Amino acid sequence: MTQDELKQQAALLALDYVIEGKIVGVGTGSTANFFIDGLATMKDRIEGAVASSEASARRLAGHGIRLLDMNEVESLPVYIDGADEIDASLAMIKGGGGAQTREKIVAAVARTFVCICDASKKVERLGRFPLPIEVIPMARAQVSRELVRLGGRPVLRDGFITDNGNLILDVHDLAIDDPAGLEIAIDGIVGVVTSGLFAKRGADVLLLATADGVITYDRS
Ligand code: A5P
Repeated sequence: MTQDELKQQAALLALDYVIEGKIVGVGTGSTANFFIDGLATMKDRIEGAVASSEASARRLAGHGIRLLDMNEVESLPVYIDGADEIDASLAMIKGGGGAQTREKIVAAVARTFVCICDASKKVERLGRFPLPIEVIPMARAQVSRELVRLGGRPVLRDGFITDNGNLILDVHDLAIDDPAGLEIAIDGIVGVVTSGLFAKRGADVLLLATADGVITYDRS
């Protein structure tokens, strides 16, 4: 089975978590795209969707799925998204697509975060995937110095501007022994908008697609 087929399996299983008549939060990336395509088959049975990026909003709109602005939404039963890495506690590294700020906002409002991944994303320890950090452009050099002090090696994502008009630093070589502690430390650096660490609010459910089928991890 190809990696894309695995991603699609996890994504389609996530449709079972969508509550009929309600709004669903939708993530960003290739796995989330499979979810969006699947969601189209039940678009008349949901109130609509909140997107975590312009790209996902375009894909949802392309399927004729009603889009809601995050500011119109008070509560969200479920948020479905992929991850770049996820550990046994369901803490994640996200932001490979540079959308982690909006992803974190939608995830914060959602009651249940369902993460959809192929098996390659499950790791013993977070950090082989460089940690994406969204930064205000004028703070790039200062934030980089602070990240070096934390033991990281920040690399500017070339030619990339986020949906919020900011930059992404991809930070290599970080020792992520305490994901929640590091998330707090990085988010506390002036000029950082959002780190791609999702540990304080990790996933509640992981649907991990393996060659032997989709394994469900549920800590909700
Ligand atoms: C987007 O910014 C990311 O957080 C994605 O959710 C993550 O990179 C997973 O993407 P794929 O599903 O494409 O691997």
